[in-house]
Amino acid sequence: LPLEWLLTIQDQTEIAPGIFELRLSGDLAQEKVQSGQFVDVKIPSDALLLRRPFGIANVDAAHNTITLLYRTVGEGTQILSECSQGTELSVLGPLGGHGYPIDQLKPHQKALIIGGGTGIPPLHELSRQLVAKGVQVQHVFGFANQESIFYQAEFEKLGPTAYATNDGSYGYKGHVGLLLDEQFADAATTYDAIYACGPKGLLMAVDNRFSAHPNAYISLEERMACGVGACYACVTKLKVDPTIQLKICDDGPVFKTNEVLL
Ligand code: FES
Repeated sequence: LPLEWLLTIQDQTEIAPGIFELRLSGDLAQEKVQSGQFVDVKIPSDALLLRRPFGIANVDAAHNTITLLYRTVGEGTQILSECSQGTELSVLGPLGGHGYPIDQLKPHQKALIIGGGTGIPPLHELSRQLVAKGVQVQHVFGFANQESIFYQAEFEKLGPTAYATNDGSYGYKGHVGLLLDEQFADAATTYDAIYACGPKGLLMAVDNRFSAHPNAYISLEERMACGVGACYACVTKLKVDPTIQLKICDDGPVFKTNEVLL
């Protein structure tokens, strides 16, 4: 059974329209968290018994806090966004059988980190852990437009960051896949590891381009629902044998490229 924690809201800020940064304090921050793992938060409402899964954007053991970044998409996240400082939340975690593997990388090796929209938060903790190991990181991120960009300064502190926006209001105009083709054409050979998280189109773009890379990973966290193996809403199929079903929350959320049917 996953560990249950009582975490206290330290602060909560809307960092882009509809995107909230939630800092929680408590001893979960002392656990060994693999980036790409997630937590399941009980929404503090009598009407809502469901928990909601969220990627972990930051673990700060020294200050005993973890940070979640999320978009308000419905009643549950709306209620969460209105919770004030000092509110206690029941949190399960860290969850996810497989986060992003980083132990295979050595200092000065290079990692390409690719993300889109609300898939980006767990990539912040990943990038931090890689930089702490001495790995050189390059970020490539896609957003709808300039207004929706978040954590720009935080990521640029860790390594160079290229942006694509759908409307061209910031950075490259168009899809992340096209930005990869134009500006990172040699990525498959120049980067020692590739990591991605984001909507399906982005994951397919990464899966196609890096299917033969020995060290390329995608996280399917956006396709989870309950997060704890109870709802079967997250089932996906193994590419080499589609009769084999995998649960994203248990068997993932991180998979190797070319491993699952997208
Ligand atoms: Fe519910 Fe995986 S998200 S079973």
